[in-house]
Amino acid sequence: MNIESKVYFIGAGPGDPELITVKGLKLLQTADVVLFTDSLVNEKLMDETKDGALVLKSAGMALEEQIDIMAGAVEEGKSVARIHTGDPAIYGAILEQMSKLFHRDVSYEVIPGVSSVFASAARAGVELTVPELTQTVILTRAEGRTPVPEKEQLVDLAKHHCTVSLFLSATLIKKVVKSFYEAGWAEDAPVLVVYKATWPDEIIIRTTLDKVDEDMRANRITKQAMVIISPAVDPKLVEQGGYESKLYDKTFTHGFRKGVVVDG
Ligand SMILES: C[S@@+](CC[C@H](N)C(=O)[O-])C[C@H]1O[C@@H](n2cnc3c(N)ncnc32)[C@H](O)[C@@H]1O
Repeated sequence: MNIESKVYFIGAGPGDPELITVKGLKLLQTADVVLFTDSLVNEKLMDETKDGALVLKSAGMALEEQIDIMAGAVEEGKSVARIHTGDPAIYGAILEQMSKLFHRDVSYEVIPGVSSVFASAARAGVELTVPELTQTVILTRAEGRTPVPEKEQLVDLAKHHCTVSLFLSATLIKKVVKSFYEAGWAEDAPVLVVYKATWPDEIIIRTTLDKVDEDMRANRITKQAMVIISPAVDPKLVEQGGYESKLYDKTFTHGFRKGVVVDG
């Protein structure tokens, strides 16, 4: 692919440098200016930048400063790789950047990445949508300093009893547990916590609603954690089996296969 003079918002994936997309990597390797979220993006990825590329960390910069750098580079005919953790569309704060670039007449494009929610599920070997258990995944956060709209309060979302994946909520775990109890979840409801999924110091905890706070404290997990509360993260499911999908059911007809009639 040919890199153009514009800003590419690129999802770096959850941490493992091999989990960036092929497209994202190619753009990173050819960009003239690279701006990356140094608090969460694996710095090893910066080994991929070309000689002479200007590589900058964004964590200490205000929004206006980042926009000046990115817009200024594009105005000089350069290409910019703006590297975000996971997928940029989830808590990536890219709207504010896109809006400011739009008003400066600077083109941009978003390249997706592997979100930490899917990396966490993969590392724990769970399916988030198990037939007949839950077919819905809610991606949300507990309300802390950042307000959550009234209609999206955790207690209301939890009433769906589906898979609920919580970003940015490690320090608010007590509040999370309280909301789930209020929504009618049992004390032994399965919870998966993944700290720094795919990083060398990753920690995976399979626990329950009544023990998650204690388990997270024992492991000193206060940030960079994905908390997934769901019947689908029950560690017993793999051994137990069942919950099979219609997709591979031999009696089920669909566009690619005719089902067979089973006697008895
Ligand atoms: C600002 S949000 C960015 C999310 C990111 N855009 C994504 O798609 O994963 C940061 C939050 O994402 C989660 N997170 C990011 N990287 C993670 C990882 N490697 N393991 C577990 N959780 C992670 C944590 O909940 C963290 O507080």
